[in-house]
This record gives sequence, structure tokens and C-alpha cells, in this order.
Amino acid sequence: MTMEPVITMKTKNLINNTGFESTAIKDSGLGSTAHLPPIFATSTFVYESPEEIMKVFKNEKEAYIYTRWDNPTVNFVEEKIAALATLNSDIKGKTLLFASGMAAISSLIDTVVHPGDTVLAQSNIYGGSVELFDLLMKEKGVKVEYLDMHDLETLENRTQTASLIYIESPSNPTINAYDIQQICSIAHQSNCKVAIDNTLSTPYLQRPLQLGVDFELHSTTKYLNGHGTALGGAMVTTDNNFYEKCWNYRKLHGGVCSPFDAWLLNNGLKTLAIRMEKHCDNSELIVEFLNKRKEVTQVNYLSLKDKKDHKIAEKQMYRYGGVLSFELKGGIRAGIDLMKNIRFCTLTSTLGTPDTLINHPASMTHVKVNEEQKLRFGITDGLIRMSVGLEDVNDIIADLGQALDSIS
Ligand SMILES: Cc1ncc(COP(=O)(O)O)c(C=O)c1O
Repeated sequence: MTMEPVITMKTKNLINNTGFESTAIKDSGLGSTAHLPPIFATSTFVYESPEEIMKVFKNEKEAYIYTRWDNPTVNFVEEKIAALATLNSDIKGKTLLFASGMAAISSLIDTVVHPGDTVLAQSNIYGGSVELFDLLMKEKGVKVEYLDMHDLETLENRTQTASLIYIESPSNPTINAYDIQQICSIAHQSNCKVAIDNTLSTPYLQRPLQLGVDFELHSTTKYLNGHGTALGGAMVTTDNNFYEKCWNYRKLHGGVCSPFDAWLLNNGLKTLAIRMEKHCDNSELIVEFLNKRKEVTQVNYLSLKDKKDHKIAEKQMYRYGGVLSFELKGGIRAGIDLMKNIRFCTLTSTLGTPDTLINHPASMTHVKVNEEQKLRFGITDGLIRMSVGLEDVNDIIADLGQALDSIS
């Protein structure tokens, strides 16, 4: 019996420009008859002859060489994420998957930014990205300036000498939105690139490449995997030259995603759309509930029409996601007491899992951070952050209700 070859180099043209859910679900094309894409759990690949190896290494023939360079399972998921990020548009994106969100972010920064360059970073980005900028990038001779990205006039003035603008919209845990299209048009007048961490929105809720962003980043650990089963990161770009450089960086620094983690990520992607809808549905109902509680002075969620960033978010997002925050009247004491009384929600600081996660940054993740830095991140004493899950919303609301009763 003759068998068809199992794989070809890269999984070309697998994904038609169909609807989001279909693109996320369909798996045809890794060459085998398995229903789901196989996990190519192999570090290396073999050749028929020394002549073939020679051709491969001289770039005269495309073939898999070593999983740190490329792997069919990883490539397959990369193509799917690129297709989702560019869906229903004329742009063509390429994705690289990494071992974690931070591996994706640091590889991007290292590839784009050089000693002597200036990065303009949004002041309230993810803490790990701030450490990367403040510890490693400054040491490398990169100047990092933190700006409020609402202030487009200052941004325009500063952009002329910058090589990269780095943003996150919505921001976490303050849940601000920034005008992605405007930021890109300011940057591109000065030949400056724009990178966005799109982890909170996912391509289901927001497609920044279609708004002009050069590099879209994800901690796939969060919503894209969606089940908390693996770390991962993705970088998507429309810039082929940059993609090649970053591919080479990943090859040499070795921060590639494992085939198994890529496979888990692919399983998560299949339900991304339906999960994001439910995260949004539940969040909207919880926001409605929190807004009526006397112990809560402020609720941060972008569906709220009276929030200053609602109009910006409405322009660039389809819905507003599963992360929200709220401020307790009783400050630090109330925050600690609320955490003590929570029964149903899970006390932890990650986001994007099926269960609802809750944390009080001032007494948990940011307990050692000084006041000035906390204010820069928007962390006030009574701030509570929630990653709203997929459970029956009545159970989440009942838990919040009893915990709020206990502190009032
Ligand atoms: C918005 C955001 N970006 C990036 C990261 C880093 O991702 P990872 O933990 O996968 O390295 C995180 C992690 O919490 C995050 O919340």
C-alpha cells in the first residue's frame, strides 16, 4: 500500500476566508487523515539522501529541519491565528508562536528596537512589559518614555524621534481604551512603528492590524488557549522583512512554542468566539449589578456609555471583553475583607480561563510596589479586578453579593 506524504513544508492555503468561527474551528490540511491535526512531537526531521540535505541547507528545497526553526503543528496554528487577525480584509499577516507571551513581546522588542532608540510606551501596560522596558531595555541603551496615550498632541511631538510606540487597549486593570487608528496615523507620519498587546481583546473583539498596527502581540496563555492549560505567545505582522528577522531571532534565542502547547492552543481557538460572547454577556450583567451596590464607587468596563473611553472602544471593538475592575469605598481594608469572603470565584491573578478569577492588586500582586508606581498603573487601594468566566452568571453575582454584604 502506498501512503501519501504526511506533511509538506508549511501548511499552505489551508484556511479560506470564511467566517470567524469556521476559520477558528476548521482543521483540514495537515496532510494526514486524522480528524485533528497531529502533534509532531519531534525535535528533528529526516531526509532521504545527503543530496537532499544539501539542497535543504542551501535553501534550494523547503523542508522541516529542526523544531526550534519550524514544526508542522506550530506552523498550522500560526497560520490560523494570522487568518483570524486579518479576517475579511485585504491584508496578509504572518504569525510566530512563542513559549510565552513575554517571549513574544521580548522577541519583538529586541528585533525592532536598537541601542540609542526611543520607545514610547503607554504608562499602564502589563507589569512584565514594564519590567522588560525598565530593566532590560534601559540596560541595552534604549530610552523608554511612558505617556498617556490619550494625549495625542504630546504623542505627536514625541514620535518624531521614536522608533516604536507600544500600547495595550483596553488597558488592565484600569480598562481604558486608546485610539489605535489615530496612534498609527501619527506614528506612520514619522516612520515609527506601532505594537499592540491585544491579549485582552483577542482577534474576535478587535483586529488592530486592520487599524494600521504593525505588530500585534498576544499572551495566548489567556483567552486564545482559554483553558489555562499552557503558556504561549503570538506575534502577528504584515511586514515580511520583519517577520523573517523575528523568525531568525526566535530560531537563535530558542523561545519557540512547543508542538504540544500549540496543539492545546488550537483546541482553545475552536471555541474562542462562543467563549468571548459569553465572557462579554456575563461581564455586562455583573457591571449592571456592581453599579447598583453602595459599597462600590466606580465600575470600569467599556460598555458603560458614560465612561470617557466608551466612544473610542465602540469605534474599534466589537464587544468589550471579560476583564473588568471596580473600586470599593472602603479602600484597602474593604479589598482584603472582600477577598476573604469570596467563595465561588477563584482568587488568582491570571485571566481568560473558563472560571471567574478575582484579585485585589493592592494586597496581592502589587503588595510590594511603591505608591508612585501603583498610581502609574492605576492601582488604587480599593481596586478589585475580575476576569469574568463562563459560569452561570447568577452564581458569580450571588458570590459578589454575599461578599459585598459582609463588608458593608
Ligand atoms: C496583557 C498581558 N500581556 C502579556 C502577558 C505575559 O504573558 P505570559 O504570562 O504568557 O508570558 C500577560 C500575562 O499576564 C498579560 O496579562
